[in-house]
Amino acid sequence: MEIIILPTSAEVGRTAAAHIASLVSRDPSAVLGLATGSSPLGIYAELARGVELGLIDFGQARAFALDEYVGIPLDHEQSYATVIRTEVVEPLRMNASLVQVPDGRAADIEAACDRYEADIVEAGGIDLQILGIGSNGHIGFNEPTSSFASRTRIKTLAPQTRDDNARFFASLDEVPSHCVTQGLGTIMAARHVLLVAQGAKKADAVAAAIEGPVSSLVPASILQHHPHATIVIDEEAASAL
Ligand code: GLP
Repeated sequence: MEIIILPTSAEVGRTAAAHIASLVSRDPSAVLGLATGSSPLGIYAELARGVELGLIDFGQARAFALDEYVGIPLDHEQSYATVIRTEVVEPLRMNASLVQVPDGRAADIEAACDRYEADIVEAGGIDLQILGIGSNGHIGFNEPTSSFASRTRIKTLAPQTRDDNARFFASLDEVPSHCVTQGLGTIMAARHVLLVAQGAKKADAVAAAIEGPVSSLVPASILQHHPHATIVIDEEAASAL
């Protein structure tokens, strides 16, 4: 694991964005794994500035989102399909037909998850997976006790995750109880994983993931076994290391 600790959250966004920009400059049709949540927003804003300035072009890049809620309409403002479109695809001027989000509304969710995995394989695998980390150590929506071998599947959200994400909804009752998420096995198959975390609220999860034992109770700890994992965090998120 390469651990990069930076003074501010803005620098986390800039440094992580530079890794992605460097990959896409070398390989314009690179396959990206996209995270939602607030952690990667600085990365996307920084990359969007590069696109505006004509420094980088995401027109040929392919992407797969990590996860999606089950039980809210596709056009809900908090569906990850909406968030990926408004925060990533549009500002980065990506080709929307090359960007996929897991289907949380499929009649046969299991078959849709299998297709999602097959699509990733057919695209040649994920070159760079962007990750945030939940305050309980989850990555994607792989909650504590998720299998390290897991692939894209339906999961129940942990109460802690529903509480954490309630800020995006009118009330806790409106937060979905289920999701579809790439598995830990899917994430570990990416050639490079780039995890970002900011703020003191993430400090314990970051310390457990980086310095604790590798345990399914802290799903992000499996990244200790990834051959190419880069962790970019600010000083507050690093404060329990
Ligand atoms: C969310 C997402 C994760 C994200 C994590 C942290 O619910 N499913 O992909 O990394 O929880 O979210 P945030 O970045 O908003 O703290």
